[in-house]
Amino acid sequence: MTPAETFSALLQSAAPLLALAPMQDVTTLQFMRVVDRYGGPEVYWTEYFRVHGDSRPEKWILESITKNPTGKPVIAQMIGNDIPALVRNAKLLQQFPVAAIDLNLGCPAPIVYRKCAGGGLLREPQKIDAILGALREVVTIPFTVKTRIGFESAEEFDALLPIFARHALDLLTVHARTVKQMYRPGVRYDLIAHAAQAMKCPVLLNGNVFSAGQAKQLLAETKVRGLMIGRGAIRNPWLFDQIRAQLRGENIKLPVGRDVLNYVHELWDNEITPGVRESAQVQRMKKFTNFIGEGLGGKFLHDIRRVETTADFWRVCEEFLQHDQTMTLEPLPIAKLPSAL
Ligand SMILES: Cc1cc2nc3c(=O)[nH]c(=O)nc-3n(C[C@H](O)[C@H](O)[C@H](O)COP(=O)(O)O)c2cc1C
Repeated sequence: MTPAETFSALLQSAAPLLALAPMQDVTTLQFMRVVDRYGGPEVYWTEYFRVHGDSRPEKWILESITKNPTGKPVIAQMIGNDIPALVRNAKLLQQFPVAAIDLNLGCPAPIVYRKCAGGGLLREPQKIDAILGALREVVTIPFTVKTRIGFESAEEFDALLPIFARHALDLLTVHARTVKQMYRPGVRYDLIAHAAQAMKCPVLLNGNVFSAGQAKQLLAETKVRGLMIGRGAIRNPWLFDQIRAQLRGENIKLPVGRDVLNYVHELWDNEITPGVRESAQVQRMKKFTNFIGEGLGGKFLHDIRRVETTADFWRVCEEFLQHDQTMTLEPLPIAKLPSAL
């Protein structure tokens, strides 16, 4: 089966679909390999390909498709607003073994949205309509969209759904925050439930999924087709397996500190780039420990953010993780983090 056929079959099956969220600079080939060793999701997304003028798909992102080590389908995500360029890149990307083409309508970075790409497009519903129409014509494999619920206000969502519905999407992922909200609290799961009911295509829920119990509850409450998980999976790569176990009614296996330490070692081994300066390597690891630390507490985050050397990096990790106590790796309330963070 081609990746597109595998993905289409997954969409037809009854089991809740679990996906790893696209994350720039995180969901690389290397990270997918590590997450998959812990069970992993059923489907992966690339970080976004930047599409404009005469751009071509970035080589390093293409590697997560051409060298995909997981055997599971990978969806190629694009960001941009230039219709001829999006059409050209969608055609190019379909020459690779991608499971689907996805359009990003959620990126909240001002540098992106000011150019009216990503989340910025949510201010221009007519433009979205035109882009989706043009892409649907040239995408012969599944075509999917990942959106936020509005730019300024959640009230915009109602006007967006009929636009998505017009273009026979194969899947809609909803990160239930507005663009202006960035990552602040107040994820509108009620609006995702509404989308799941209103849309003919399957809907994935995205935003702050962090435990198996909560995942089961969200699936039941919103009746979505599945869950897309980002930061929760960096913090806890066991999460996908934990959710599957919870849904089967089995006990959840929680990692102990030493398991988490091993995970950080695996990340290090996979992320190491020969010849790269020690400080740059430590810096690269902070991309992951910043998220892992949200489940470990403020003192860990405080200390790890200040390390510069490999020796100090492992000293801090071992101080907090060299133990056999089980860890839920759920994000700790912000109030428990020191105010300096
Ligand atoms: C470091 C980072 C990079 C991200 N890059 C992308 C991206 O390339 N494309 C995208 O659609 N969303 C991107 N996102 C958003 C996530 O896919 C997801 O929607 C968001 O983190 C909420 O899900 P979560 O609470 O499970 O993390 C990124 C998020 C993070 C934290």
